[in-house]
Amino acid sequence: MANEGSNGGSHVTTKPPPEPSPLRRAKFFQANMRILVTGGAGFIGSHLVDKLMENEKNEVIVADNYFTGSKENLKQWIGHPRFELIRHDVTEPLLVEVDRIYHLAFQLPGTQTRSFCYVSDMVDGLMRLMEGDNTGPINIGNPGEFTMSELAETVKEMINPEVKIISVENTPDDPRQRKPDITKAKELLGWEPKVKLQQGIPLMEEDFRKRLGILRKN
Ligand SMILES: NC(=O)c1ccc[n+]([C@@H]2O[C@H](COP(=O)([O-])OP(=O)(O)OC[C@H]3O[C@@H](n4cnc5c(N)ncnc54)[C@H](O)[C@@H]3O)[C@@H](O)[C@H]2O)c1
Repeated sequence: MANEGSNGGSHVTTKPPPEPSPLRRAKFFQANMRILVTGGAGFIGSHLVDKLMENEKNEVIVADNYFTGSKENLKQWIGHPRFELIRHDVTEPLLVEVDRIYHLAFQLPGTQTRSFCYVSDMVDGLMRLMEGDNTGPINIGNPGEFTMSELAETVKEMINPEVKIISVENTPDDPRQRKPDITKAKELLGWEPKVKLQQGIPLMEEDFRKRLGILRKN
């Protein structure tokens, strides 16, 4: 594409985007969906990859720099013909031909959150958003609001009544309230979270026990 500058002199030439691979139009090409998940080695990303890989039409590419994520989260898919893992920092350009992108790579690890959405609900919401026709920003989260002390008390009660809760000083930039407004997600996607905090805590405990190889005491 060539544009004439307003002074009628210089020409600015923009390179057109690359053509899709000719394989896409070949007779033997299967109508697969190629999906890029940035940050796919992280917590939400790896659960999303598990769900996407259930569909045999999906090819999944993960781009992750392993800042906070780990290959361990994806070990069941490494070597799978429909899966590809790329060590890549998404602040650098990446040339891949894909149909969909879930962008979950995050640059600011450590920020606290109070929206306790169980990961299966989050993955379901993200996939509904991707598969629908709505393009505007839509909040996906659990509006159930809990203070940190309520959370600590619930975890203590459900997991180990013997643990001692210690209060520490807050960081100055910590948001006081986090409660997503999911009206749009309900109306446009017909989505709302199903797993309540009290149901999610034992599931989370089980998941951590498996990851850390810690057996339950009888
Ligand atoms: N977990 C939650 O409760 C929660 C709640 C609300 C929003 N989110 C958002 O969802 C996203 C994913 O959250 P998560 O809990 O899975 O976090 P996570 O830290 O487990 O995953 C983030 C992944 O992105 C990768 N990454 C970071 N910077 C990168 C870069 N420059 N290039 C490539 N990869 C990079 C990390 O290595 C990691 O694998 C984040 O944007 C987070 O803010 C998470």
